[in-house]
Amino acid sequence: MSFAHRHLLGIEHLSQDDITTLLDLADSYADLNRQPHKHSDALSGLTQINMFFENSTRTQASFEIAGKRLGADVMNMAMQASSIKKGETLIDTAMTLNAMHPDLLVVRHPQSGAVDLLAQKVNCAVLNAGDGRHEHPTQALLDALTIRRAKGRLHRLSIAICGDIAHSRVARSNIMLLGKMENRIRLIAPPTLMPAQIGEFGVEVFDDMEKGLKDVDVVMMLRLQKERMDGGFIPSEREYYHRYGLDAEKLAHAKPDAIVMHPGPMNRGLEITSSVADGERSLILPQVTNGIAVRMSIMAKLMGPQSQNLESEP
Ligand code: NCD
Repeated sequence: MSFAHRHLLGIEHLSQDDITTLLDLADSYADLNRQPHKHSDALSGLTQINMFFENSTRTQASFEIAGKRLGADVMNMAMQASSIKKGETLIDTAMTLNAMHPDLLVVRHPQSGAVDLLAQKVNCAVLNAGDGRHEHPTQALLDALTIRRAKGRLHRLSIAICGDIAHSRVARSNIMLLGKMENRIRLIAPPTLMPAQIGEFGVEVFDDMEKGLKDVDVVMMLRLQKERMDGGFIPSEREYYHRYGLDAEKLAHAKPDAIVMHPGPMNRGLEITSSVADGERSLILPQVTNGIAVRMSIMAKLMGPQSQNLESEP
C-alpha cells in the first residue's frame, strides 16, 4: 500500500491505512532486527541528520540505530553546543543544514509547532521526534506496534492513559492514533493534569485510578513532566504516588491479561512502582526494541519510490 507523505509531523495527518502500512513494514523490520546481520539498504547513500534541541537518550539513539541499520549516513548535531547558542535562529540553522543536502532531518524541539515550521523551509523530509507538548508521532506508532504484537489487534481495545496528560505530547499522539484505530480511550489524571480542551478528544475522563483502570486491556503510564511545570500541579509527590502511582493493587482492577507500558524515562516510585515496571506484564523494554523497527519503517516509507515528487504537504 502506498504512503503518500513527504514528512512525518504528527499522527494528525495519518489515515488508518497509513498507520497499518507503517506497522506492517515495522513488523518485518522487527524480524530483521532479531537476526545476527541487521542490515538493509533502504536508505543506502542517503544522509540523515538528527537535530535534538532537547535532551534525549532513547529517542535519539533509536533514530541513529534505525538509520544505520537501513544503510544511511547518520549525523548527530550537538544542538546544545550549536550556533543557536551564538544567537542563530532555528530557521537559519535549518537552512544551513539544508544547504548540505541531507535527505532526512529528524528534529526534536521544546516548542510546539517548531518542527512544522522547519519542514516548510527545507527541501528534505522532516520527522518530528517530539515538539513541545504537541506531538511525538514515532512514540505513538511504537506504542501501537507494541500493543498490536501483544494483543494481536489494534482495535476495540480498552486503553487507559494515566498521569501527566496535560504536559504530554506522547498522550496527545496516542489519543489521536488509538482513536483513529477505533479503541476506547480512558484518561486518568488529577484535574490539574488534565488538558482543558479534553471534551474535544472523544475519550472518557477519570480522576480515580481504580475506577479508570477497571477492565482495561492496556495501561499506559506517563512520566510526571516536572520540567514543564511551574509549581502547584500536584499536592506532593507522596500524595501523587498514593493516588496515581501504578502498583500491584491498582493494576489488579485492570483485566488479568492487561499489559503495562511507559514511554520512559520513568520516575520509579512516583508514577510507577518497580515491581510493576519490572513485572511480567510490563512491556516497557519491548517498547524500546519496537521503537527501532517503527523508525526504520517510517524512514523507509518516507524515502520510498512512491514518496518521490510529492507536493510539499505533510
Ligand atoms: C517522551 C518524550 O520525550 O516526550 N520520552 C520519549 O520520547 N521516550 C516522554 C517523556 O519524556 O516523558
